[in-house]
Amino acid sequence: MGYREEFDQSLADPRGYWGEQARAIDWFRPPEQVLTDEEPVPRWFADGILNTCYNALDRHVINGGADAPALIQHSAMTGARRTYTYAELLEHTAKLAGVLRALGVERDDRVIIYQPMIPEAVMSMLACARIGAIHSVVFGGFAPSELAARIDGAEPKVIISASCGLEPGRVVEYHPILEKALERADHAPEHCIVVQREQAPAELKEGRDLDFAQLMRSTAIKPAPAADVAATDPLYILYTSGTTGKPKGIVRDNGGHAVALAYAMRTIYDIGPGEVMFTASDVGWVVGHSFIVYGPLIAGATTVLYEGKPVGTPDAGAFWKVVAEHGVKALFTAPTAIRAIRKVDPDAELVAAHDTSSLQTLFLAGERTDPDTLTWAGEKLGVPVVDNWWQTETGWPIAANLRGLEPMPIKPGSPSVPVPGYDVAVLGPDGERVGPDTEGAIAIRLPLPPGTLAGVWRDPQRMIDSYLKAYPGYYSTGDGGVIDADGYLTILGRTDDVINVAGHRLSTGAMEAVLATHPAVAECAVIGVADELKGQVPRGFVVLKEGQSVEPDQLAAELVQLVRDEIGAVAALRRVDVVAALPKTRSGKILRKTMREIADGKDAVVPSTIEDPAVVDDLRDVLTS
Ligand code: COA
Ligand code: AMP
Repeated sequence: MGYREEFDQSLADPRGYWGEQARAIDWFRPPEQVLTDEEPVPRWFADGILNTCYNALDRHVINGGADAPALIQHSAMTGARRTYTYAELLEHTAKLAGVLRALGVERDDRVIIYQPMIPEAVMSMLACARIGAIHSVVFGGFAPSELAARIDGAEPKVIISASCGLEPGRVVEYHPILEKALERADHAPEHCIVVQREQAPAELKEGRDLDFAQLMRSTAIKPAPAADVAATDPLYILYTSGTTGKPKGIVRDNGGHAVALAYAMRTIYDIGPGEVMFTASDVGWVVGHSFIVYGPLIAGATTVLYEGKPVGTPDAGAFWKVVAEHGVKALFTAPTAIRAIRKVDPDAELVAAHDTSSLQTLFLAGERTDPDTLTWAGEKLGVPVVDNWWQTETGWPIAANLRGLEPMPIKPGSPSVPVPGYDVAVLGPDGERVGPDTEGAIAIRLPLPPGTLAGVWRDPQRMIDSYLKAYPGYYSTGDGGVIDADGYLTILGRTDDVINVAGHRLSTGAMEAVLATHPAVAECAVIGVADELKGQVPRGFVVLKEGQSVEPDQLAAELVQLVRDEIGAVAALRRVDVVAALPKTRSGKILRKTMREIADGKDAVVPSTIEDPAVVDDLRDVLTS
C-alpha cells in the first residue's frame, strides 16, 4: 500500500489499522481492545500487557541478535568509544533494574534521571521501563530551580545522576546543582545514585548518595526480569514548557508508545535491524527519548549516543566523523546544528574529508527547516533532507515524508504530509476547517494515534485546558500553519508564548516570571525574535519601578544572570533593554505579537485596541536595534 491508502485507512478504521501495527511488538498478553473510549482522551491497547524494555532488548537477544551492536557511545568531549551489543546492554540494564528494585523502587514509582549523554542514561531509562517504574529525564542545561520543580512534580523515590556533564570549555558539575535543587524542593528522594565521572567526581552524601559503579558490582544484587506492565501504564513523564512558568509533565504510556515507535522507525525513518541511526540530540528532549533510545532499540537497530556539539568539538566535521566511523544510515538533528556547521564550513570541506557514503537521509526537526539550510545540506551531503514536524506531546512525527513507506517529492519549507493516524486540520477562528493555502491554527482531530500524550501528570484539568478546550473534538497543537492543495503542511510557528531556541523549547512566560522578581522591575515582556543561527532567541524588555535610577547595562547584566540562575544556561537570554513603557491594549494585555513583528522587520499590525500608539513608535528603535 502507498501513502494515500495507508493514510485513508488509518483514519477510516483506526482500530483495524493500529491493531495490525501492534503485531510488530511482543506482547505478554496481546491486546484485544485496540481503542477504548475514555475521557478526556481514548486509550490504546487497554487490555494489553507488555514490557517496553523487553521489546527494546530481550527479544532481540532471544531472536539471535545477542551480538548485534545496540548502542555506540561516541564522545567528542572525552574521545570515548564503546559499543554495547544487545546482550551487553541487556546485562547492564537488568542489573541496574535489580539495583532499583533493591532500593525499593516498585512499579509506578518515579525515578528522575539527570544525566549527560553517557550510556548509563540509556540504561537508567530502560531499567525503569523493565520494572514498570516511571522515569522523568531532566535536561542538563536547566538550573536547580527547574530541576526542583520536576522533583516536586514527579516525587521520585530515587534520582539517578552523574557527577558532571561536559560542555565545550567547561565542566558542568551536576552534583552541586542536584544538591541545590534538593534544598529547594519539598520532596526528598530516598536515594541518589551517582555515576562518578573522572572529570569532576562528586562528594557523596553518606546515607543518601550511592555510587553507580559500586552498586553495579555488588554480587548481592540480582538482575531483575522484565515485569508485566499494562499498555496504559505510564512509561515516562517528560516536562516541557507551556505558556505559563510551570512546566507540563507530559505522560507517555507503554503500549501505544512501543507500537508508534516501531511504526515510525519503519515507515518514516526506514531503519531496521543491522542499520545505524545517529540522532544528535539529548536524552533530555523528546527527540532523544524516541529516537536515541526507544525507537532504534525497539527496531533492533544500532543507535549512536553522541556527546559533543556539531561544531567546535573539535570542528564542524564532528557529525560527519560519526557517520563515517559507524556507517550511519540516518542522521537526525535540529536545523540549528546544520546552520552552525554551515557557518563554520560553508563549502562543506569537512564533508568531503569524511566518507559519508553510508548516509541515506538527513532528518531535521525541533524547529522549522528553512529552505536555504535544507538545500545546502542536500547539496553538500547528496542525500534527501527530510523535515519532520512534531512535539513533546505527540512523541513522534505528526507530519513527515515517509521514507520507508512511499518517499514523496520534497518541498523545501514544508515537513510534507500528515503521517497516517493524524487527521491534521487547519482551523479558522470559528473552529471550522479552512481551505488550501489559508492560514489557521493547526489541530488534530481526535482520537490521536497511539504513542501520543496520555495526559498531563497529576493535572487532568490542564490536559483539557491546554489541548482540548480550544477546539472541541480536536487536539490543539499550539502551532499555526497552512496546508496546500497537494496536502503539504507549512508550519508558521507557535501561536502561544512558547519559543524554540536552537531547537530547545522554552517558555517566555517563565522568563518573564523570573525578570519580574527583580526589585527594580515594574513590568516586563520577553519575546522570541528571529535569529540566523538559533532560529529564535529571547529578548527581554523591562520598565523600571518609579524612582529607580539603576544603570541600564548593570541591570541588564543582573537580569541575564538571574534567568541563567533560575532557568539555566539553555534559556540563552542575552539581551534585556530598559524601556519607558510596554505597548498594551486598553484592557492591559501586552502586545507581544506586535513587538515581535517589529523586531523581525515585518509589517506590524497594531491593533485598534491599543492604549497608547505612541508607545509603539517609541519602542521601534529599541526593537530594531
Ligand atoms: N548541559 C549544560 N549546559 C548546556 C547543555 C547541557 N546539556 N546544553 C547547552 N548548555 C548550555 C551551553 O553550554 C550554553 O552555555 P553558555 O551560555 O555558557 O555558552 C547555553 O546552554 C546555551 O546553549 P545553546 O543554545 O545550545 O548554544 P551554544 O552556542 O552552546 O550552541 C549550537 C549552539 C547550535 C551548536 C547548539 O545549540 C546545538 O547543537 N543545537 C542543536 C540542538 C538540538 O540538538 N536540539 C534538540 C532538539 S532535536
Ligand atoms: P518540542 O516539544 O520541544 O519538540 O517542540 C515542539 C515545537 O517545536 C512545535 O510545536 C513546533 O513549534 C516546533 N517544531 C518542531 N519541529 C518542527 C518542524 N519540523 N517545523 C516547524 N516547527 C517545528
